Parts: sequence; structure tokens; C-alpha cells
Amino acid sequence: MTDMTAAHFSGSAVIVTGGGTGIGRATARTFAEQGAQVLVVGRTAARLAETAADAPGIRPLVADVSAPGAAELIVNTAMEAFGRIDVLVNNAAVVRQAPVGDIRREAAEEMFAVNLLAPMYLVQAALPHLSESAGVVINVSTAIGQRGWPMPGGELYAALKAALDTLTRSWAVQLAPRGVRVAGVAPGPIATAIGQHQGLDAEQIDALRTTLIEHVPLGRLGQVEEVAFWIAQLARREAGYTTGVVLPVDGGALVG
Ligand SMILES: NC(=O)c1ccc[n+]([C@@H]2O[C@H](COP(=O)([O-])OP(=O)(O)OC[C@H]3O[C@@H](n4cnc5c(N)ncnc54)[C@H](OP(=O)(O)O)[C@@H]3O)[C@@H](O)[C@H]2O)c1
Repeated sequence: MTDMTAAHFSGSAVIVTGGGTGIGRATARTFAEQGAQVLVVGRTAARLAETAADAPGIRPLVADVSAPGAAELIVNTAMEAFGRIDVLVNNAAVVRQAPVGDIRREAAEEMFAVNLLAPMYLVQAALPHLSESAGVVINVSTAIGQRGWPMPGGELYAALKAALDTLTRSWAVQLAPRGVRVAGVAPGPIATAIGQHQGLDAEQIDALRTTLIEHVPLGRLGQVEEVAFWIAQLARREAGYTTGVVLPVDGGALVG
């Protein structure tokens, strides 16, 4: 057995929101390959089913994380299925353009609800179980935008990730006495369908990627597995002295 497939999470139960695609799917599979049972949450049953295909440890739950009562539903489903919660990965997010001067309430409120409020309520609902298991919360942030989003329209998305990072650091302090660690990963531009999911066409996606790569010293997009790797590493018992960090996984974007 190689280290990557060693059963580091044998007996552990993991929740991954937005587990039907992209970084969330790779994260769910990484945990499952290392022995975890994983609940993947998303709004699209077919995407979740694809994540769970050939992975007996992965269970789908169709839910909108921003719906009232979703946090309780997700936590109750995990507890019924697994009897414990060891790791919560807040990964689901949406990107909506909101350039100042043309910020639409619907776009702004959807981003608030999915990207910030949903992780907040989910941590709150999972807390009693995370405390019992000396569990870990991993919040998925963003590296691009930490100094100001380079193109108009993405700044509200970046601001909500910055708010999530503040919660990551604050909760790390507040939950330490309960044995719960809280960390984040901040991906640079990663090869996923996130552009498609925000309604961009192929040309716009190409243009966006070209601009984003200009901010990446390593000069390429990251792969989903390269982010999932660190999400799982941070959740491992061996990382037990690490809390309150938001780890850039960004090809050097933050220092470039
Ligand atoms: N790709 C990048 O370059 C990049 C860079 C920095 C940070 N990130 C972050 O990485 C995370 C994953 O992004 P990704 O690139 O893998 O993009 P993605 O493929 O668009 O993943 C987002 C996932 O969230 C789910 N989702 C969206 N709204 C939801 C809701 N209301 N309830 C439940 N699930 C919902 C989507 O599934 P459904 O639509 O089926 O619900 C989808 O599976 C996000 O937090 C994103 O902000 C990505």
C-alpha cells in the first residue's frame, strides 16, 4: 500500500459539501480511498451518483446547503449513516458576478447564503459530534482575491471567502478547548467546471484562465487532486498540532 492509499481515515466519517463535482468530488474520493465513509452533499443527484460510483464508502445526499434546515438534515443524515462525524469539509460555493454599480440582490444574497451562511450553520450543527470525535473542520477558501480581486465582478465572492477565513481563524481559537481543529485551504485557479457553473461560455472561460494564470508563478492551473491532497492531510491525526491556518494551494499566487 502506498502512503496515499493507506487507511488514515479508517473508522472516520467525513462530510463534503459540493461533493458532486470538481474539488469536492476529488476530496470525497481521496478520503474514501484512505478508508473514510463519506457523505457527499449537492443539489444534483446525477453528479453525486457519479462521485459515489465504484466507491462503496461514499453516500450521496441531495440537498441545497443554503435551504432552511439543511444543516440539521446533513448532520442527522451523517449521524444515522455513520454514527459519528470526524471531518466536515465546507466546499460548496457559487460564483456570481457582482461588479459595484451593478450588484444584483439575488446574486449577492445567493453567494452570502451558500458561501458563508451555509458553512456557518453546518459547523454549528455538527459541533456536538465534532467535539465528541476531536474532529476537524476544513473550509475551502480562495487564494486569488486575498489582495483584491484582479477583475471587476468577483470581489464579493472574494470578500465572502475572506469572511470565511476570519471564521476559520476565530473558530480555531474558540473550539480548541473542545478539541476541534479548524483550518482552510486557499486554492489558486484549479481546472474545474466552476466557470461553466457560473454561466460563462468557452471563450470567457479561456480568457479568465489566461488572466488568472498570469497571477500564478508556477504558470499553470492546479489539479483537483492537488487540492484534495492538502484537505485530507490537514484532517489527518498527524496534523493534530495544526489549527487556524488557511493553507494556500495556489502555485505561488499569493507570493508571486
Ligand atoms: N476552481 C477554482 O479555480 C477554485 C479556486 C479557488 C477556490 N475554489 C473553491 O473550491 C470550491 C469547489 O469549487 P470547484 O472549483 O470544485 O467548483 P464546482 O465544480 O462549481 O463545485 C461547486 C460544488 O458546489 C455545489 N453547490 C453549489 N451550490 C450548492 C448548494 N446551494 N447546495 C449544495 N451544493 C451546492 C455544486 O453542485 P450542485 O450545483 O449540483 O449543487 C458543485 O458540486 C468552492 O468553494 C470554490 O469557491 C475553486
